[in-house]
Amino acid sequence: MMPSAVIRGTGHYTPPTILTNADFERLVDTSNEWILERTGIRERHVLNGDRKLASSDMAVEAARQALADAQMSPGELEAILVATVTPDYPVPSTATVVQHKLGAGPAAVMDIVAACAGFIYGLAVARAFIVSGVYRNVLVVGVEYLTSITNYQDRNTCVLFGDGAGAVVVTRSRPGEEDRGILSTFLSGDGQHKDLLHIPIGGSREPLTAETVADPRRYLYMDGREVFKLAVREMVDASNRVLTQAGVSSEDIDMLIPHQANLRIIEALGKRMKLSPDRVFVNIEKYGNTSSASVPIALDEARRSGRIHDGSLVLSVAFGGGLTWGAALYRL
Ligand code: ACO
Repeated sequence: MMPSAVIRGTGHYTPPTILTNADFERLVDTSNEWILERTGIRERHVLNGDRKLASSDMAVEAARQALADAQMSPGELEAILVATVTPDYPVPSTATVVQHKLGAGPAAVMDIVAACAGFIYGLAVARAFIVSGVYRNVLVVGVEYLTSITNYQDRNTCVLFGDGAGAVVVTRSRPGEEDRGILSTFLSGDGQHKDLLHIPIGGSREPLTAETVADPRRYLYMDGREVFKLAVREMVDASNRVLTQAGVSSEDIDMLIPHQANLRIIEALGKRMKLSPDRVFVNIEKYGNTSSASVPIALDEARRSGRIHDGSLVLSVAFGGGLTWGAALYRL
């Protein structure tokens, strides 16, 4: 029997500082009612700038927990994949920083830039490495320091984003475990929509200059309404594709753990997939949108709270800047 790629351990980290909706009422023209009704968000964790921490610091905390959960040491990792759009540095990758801080030995290290879908991309890459026999033990982290690229004068976006990290250790199945693991994945993207969710300047197309250093175009811009429409359609399609690939129906799913961008998107997705609310995991009220970190944070919380356990069939699906999207179906 072919080996499978089993999610052996999970972990997450969110910084202790919290911004509530009331804090935003003091910053921009908004209200707790608007934010709660339109997004489902009550508060979000933010990395405290004074402490000079960056994405890798959150990633390492989440990774240590995932390794402990898997009862593995950092030295056993053969590949480290970090999904992020907020790397510590333009060069080198955050994965190299994480590898060094974890005290792992030399390993394949790379970042995955696929915005909110980054963690799903990471799971698909880890699975491909493992089932093809290239590696046995792969760490996949989703981490974002979104508040470092948030424009706190733009009420359309600033209320949405939070910081955090989630991690999983994916390993080759042991004999007898082949029915566990990542059963199917689907990835897609379409750059024709790149301007719906982007940071216009600060890259090689338009490097920052002394004149543009304070330009708000250096922060994340989103056309929320347009993204919303496409998000539901493509996440339903991606979900159906991974179910079909694995030969299961939505009735078999124990839990949907989707990207947490907006409660209304999650509810629409759950309804379209014919899943009752108790089979849809939501924690957006506590964290806001943490992009690539949201699925692994939610997965870890769902496991640690006992909502899912070994044997549970889980569907994760995400959608974000690019546009990019994807889904993964896995049995714990
Ligand atoms: N407080 C008060 N009013 C606001 C706020 C705010 N914080 N933000 C926007 N408004 C106003 C707008 O100005 C607009 O006013 P207008 O009608 O006078 O122009 C009105 O509220 C309604 O705005 P909409 O954009 O229609 O609001 P919508 O219901 O679409 O909600 C939201 C906005 C929450 C952004 C939603 O569109 C959304 O969640 N979109 C998808 C996000 C997503 O999935 N992103 C992908 C992943 S993110 C990533 O990759 C990093």
